[in-house]
Amino acid sequence: MKNEGETMLTKVLVIDRQNFKQKDLSEAGELLREGKLVAFPTETVYGLGGNALDKTASKRIYEAKGRPSDNPLIVHIAETDDIKNIAVDIPDAAFQLAEKFWPGPLTIILKKNECVPDETTGGLKTVAIRMPSDEIARALIKESDVYIAAPSANASGRPSTTTAEHVIEDLDGRIDMVIDGGPVQIGLESTIIDLTGEVPMILRPGYITKEQLAAVVPEVVYDKAVVSRVKLDNVVARAPGMKYRHYAPKGELTIFEGAQKEVTKEIIRRIQEHADKHTVVGILATDETQEIYRQAVDGEMSEFVHIISLGKRADEEVVASHLFKCLREFDDVKAEFIYAESFSEMKIGQAVMNRLLKAAGYHILTV
Ligand code: TXA
Ligand code: MG
Repeated sequence: MKNEGETMLTKVLVIDRQNFKQKDLSEAGELLREGKLVAFPTETVYGLGGNALDKTASKRIYEAKGRPSDNPLIVHIAETDDIKNIAVDIPDAAFQLAEKFWPGPLTIILKKNECVPDETTGGLKTVAIRMPSDEIARALIKESDVYIAAPSANASGRPSTTTAEHVIEDLDGRIDMVIDGGPVQIGLESTIIDLTGEVPMILRPGYITKEQLAAVVPEVVYDKAVVSRVKLDNVVARAPGMKYRHYAPKGELTIFEGAQKEVTKEIIRRIQEHADKHTVVGILATDETQEIYRQAVDGEMSEFVHIISLGKRADEEVVASHLFKCLREFDDVKAEFIYAESFSEMKIGQAVMNRLLKAAGYHILTV
């Protein structure tokens, strides 16, 4: 880590995911064994990794992110059997879910084994565990020979990172290395399921849906706080991280829902209110609507209005994979106001809407 007064630039290790060997990650593995921090790609988002069983490494993760230390980390493993070393009282459901969805974008919460330090679990007696499907991530866990605690590799509060460039943007000099394996595949964080209560409960929606989970463990419920359209002040989110403002771009983000025609009309009306003031405005559009906005914005104004399409509305996976990158682009152009369309809540659309609502601080208007 950085010594007082010293500026350290993070080392970037580029890995060709089509053609690499585990030993290409030997320096990264060594750093992790020494308690240092290495960011790496996973199929969901980039993770900021440290040795999960080393409390000093966990503390460094919180420091590097500027993250509150009551917000627990996810422990990444390379073999299903590893859960037996870090969790206790493991229900059959855990093995059934692991069998079906691991390696992959599912995090399972279990009672923790005492070898997992409180620093890693934010003081909780439970531990979040996931086996990523990304080959680089799994090779890194094996090569380092440690379990890797990894939150998303963004500065606390900012959109999660989906490329190594974004990791550098947020964390350069604050971590020892980033492994650049190119853009991630999914672009939204893993689904989190808690198996420590009476009924399996989804604490964070993600690529793996409630329906998919229910096909394996028949009764699955959502934590109330994650499906709500309004911020529930009197409901405590079971995933501590879900209570913080997250993913937020610097500008003020408002989501509009309603019939497409009404939504575009209202967004155009809002942009026109900013005409002449040289206020930088962003529009989070779709392939179906971006031209409508472009035509409405003319002359000098077009310089101040940034229209970004997330992709075709029905292409939920594409929309999901572009969301965080687009939110970051609005920061790059210093958008002061951002107007977003809302998204359907089918499949991964639910996770898209969950992240967008949090990014907007639940500021959603029906038109
Ligand atoms: O896809 C992902 O899960 C990514 C990649 C890097 O694997 N990681 C990630 O970590 O999203 P992070 O730290 O940004 O989000 C972890 C979430 C937080 O909301 C945290 O509160 C929750 O998981 N969490 C972790 N351990 C928990 C526990 N024991 N009980 C309840 N919630 C927990
Ligand atoms: Mg995060």
